[in-house]
Amino acid sequence: MATNTVSRTLPRALKRARWTASTQQTRRVATAAAAVDYHDPAPAYIPPPPPPTNTPSRAETIRDAKPFSAFLTDTHARQHDYLRISLTEKCNLRCLYCMPEEGIALSPPITQLTTPEIIYISQLFVNQGVTKIRLTGGEPTVRKDILELMRRIGDLRSAGLKELALTTNGISLWRKLDSMVEAGLTGLNISLDTLDPFQFTLLTRRQGFDAVMKSINRVQEMNRAGANIKLKINCVMMRGLNSEQLLPFVEMTREQDIEVRFIEYMPFGGNKWSENKMLPYEEMLAMIKAIHPEFHRVPDRTKSETSKTWQVPGFVGRVGFITSMTEDFCGTCNRLRITSDGNLKVCLHGETEVSLRDLIRKDHGGEPMDDVAFDAIRQIELDRRKGMNGELSGGEEGWMSKERQLLEFIGAAVKRKKERHAGMGELENMRNRPMILIGG
Ligand code: 5AD
Ligand code: SF4
Repeated sequence: MATNTVSRTLPRALKRARWTASTQQTRRVATAAAAVDYHDPAPAYIPPPPPPTNTPSRAETIRDAKPFSAFLTDTHARQHDYLRISLTEKCNLRCLYCMPEEGIALSPPITQLTTPEIIYISQLFVNQGVTKIRLTGGEPTVRKDILELMRRIGDLRSAGLKELALTTNGISLWRKLDSMVEAGLTGLNISLDTLDPFQFTLLTRRQGFDAVMKSINRVQEMNRAGANIKLKINCVMMRGLNSEQLLPFVEMTREQDIEVRFIEYMPFGGNKWSENKMLPYEEMLAMIKAIHPEFHRVPDRTKSETSKTWQVPGFVGRVGFITSMTEDFCGTCNRLRITSDGNLKVCLHGETEVSLRDLIRKDHGGEPMDDVAFDAIRQIELDRRKGMNGELSGGEEGWMSKERQLLEFIGAAVKRKKERHAGMGELENMRNRPMILIGG
């Protein structure tokens, strides 16, 4: 197949937005047609035009000078500028460590956030200082309107959003990747727990290894063409199941500019966790050092990094460890989570949740809000401000007071966030949702 590349300009709203260093260039991406055959040679690299001057506008200077939102700051001075939103409970795989064997009962569709509700919540958080949004699931790519949703969240760059990331199992990613990059995708975590196709089927109870590899190859191909997507491979390590894959994954970093992250197996509702199955950080290090004695720690990228980064000297890629079980990173936690049914969860390992959905739908008879409903409210609010129909304001003081209520509600939940999550013994017996209902 002929290699077919086009230079696509990004949506106007994104161009207007302040660009982070990683996005200060026009991206050249291959077309969707070219995406089908990932064995095609990478499109010739065409150097990006010089970056636009990055002098912040007056509005940006004012925004950045503001103190961080009190609503998103907890009692331990942690500023939550990273929001993870789960888009669906559904998934096209059945990973052993995530899904209970018997599967999970899906919630009625009416309980799930609509796209306009997700956009509204994203906007609310970005206006308060959230700079990174990660979309998770279930498997986020199974949501039918994922592209529209990403485009609309991508537009929030003009309000201060700097990163739009996705955690996915990669099964159907390759089909949508080009459009996602167009929408403003800046980072991808692809879950892959084995490099052995046969074992993949055992661990995920489904077929799909080739499709995941196709997605990974496609991201790398696009990066070679200048797309600049931060790519990480997430690999949950379980003793006796896939632990022999540790070294093949490290080997993957020899020539590929990729970050493989080994995650300690965590207990969640129904996943039959046992301490014995968990492969601790120190043990993984020892296994790698036995073959690569020079394996060494390298600086982490950000101060709120959850992963400890290591590298084999001379290898291009890096290896990360997410040590939630043996060394928590609660002290620098900057993340909040929204479940697909609209609950705010301030800690992955906490039982407490509050429903933003119920508050958003309160003046709409508890019904899901669509774009028409949001537009109507906006109009009422505009009219109210003009003093035209104070009576019809959807509550005594209109939508603005609802927004205030939501922020206070969020603020109160954030203030209740504990200093750190429970220890291993307690976590094992704690009631928590299955991982698929929280957002990976
Ligand atoms: N332990 C550790 N990580 C998990 N994930 C899901 N369940 C678990 C678990 N029990 C993470 C994996 C997967 C992502 C969707 O969620 O990283 O890649
Ligand atoms: Fe699906 Fe991810 Fe859970 Fe696997 S870990 S079943 S891919 S949500």
